Amino acid sequence: MYGARIIVVKDEQTVGKWAADVFEQVISRKPDCLLGLATGTTPLTLYRELVRRYHRQMLDFSGIHTVNLDEYVGMPPENHQSYRYFMEKNLFQQININPKNTHLLNGLAGDAKSECRAYDRLIDELGGIDLQLLGIGQNGHIGFNEPSDNFYLQTHEVTLTEETRRANARLFAEDEIVPSQALTMGCGYIFAARKILLLAIGSGKAKILQRALFGQVTPQVPASLLQLHPDVTIIADEAAGRLLPECATESVS
Ligand code: GLP
Repeated sequence: MYGARIIVVKDEQTVGKWAADVFEQVISRKPDCLLGLATGTTPLTLYRELVRRYHRQMLDFSGIHTVNLDEYVGMPPENHQSYRYFMEKNLFQQININPKNTHLLNGLAGDAKSECRAYDRLIDELGGIDLQLLGIGQNGHIGFNEPSDNFYLQTHEVTLTEETRRANARLFAEDEIVPSQALTMGCGYIFAARKILLLAIGSGKAKILQRALFGQVTPQVPASLLQLHPDVTIIADEAAGRLLPECATESVS
């Protein structure tokens, strides 16, 4: 790994605290920065910690802009399964961010291609992403960039793999349909972020984390692209970090 700091901490709560420290550093250096945000269960302890620090007046989000990685196609923002709903509930409505500064892809866009082009333009206009937060899918996906023969650079529409749909099904009720299409920021825009923070929690992520960080760089494991980025921080709990070589990691409590 080139330019990466890999930190293994004891548990999920500590992942949130260390990750919040990274956010705090970036925000204090640049109070009008562009944050790239993620959904899933992994960033929940981080978002809780950011809210806590906001209430303690340690963080001010008034100048911050955000872009999220992805959204399900056909999902209205008010649906509790949409990523817009997730972000409103877990972060945006609990901090002093200007709602106009929070951007997610529109899963209801009639013309997905122009929605995607407009999203890339928006990121460019906002000056590029200062800090991109990532989780990792069990197949190595980042955002919804699924294993493939190429790294897709731009924002695009994807068909989710069965594996991803099965993994996401745990968050859906039995009578709800797990979407099969999504819009996702591309690997190029993720890679162009000035700083990347990848979080991994739980033993289910151990194998793929090891493969992504120490295996071959290949679009079959989209997260492996991070090996080439000059400024990546990985924070894993002990369960997710258990297969990483000790010599390459910092263990902290
Ligand atoms: C989803 C999201 C990803 C996320 C991944 C892992 O597919 N699109 O951004 O990283 O799932 O989710 P979790 O954090 O719940 O394990």
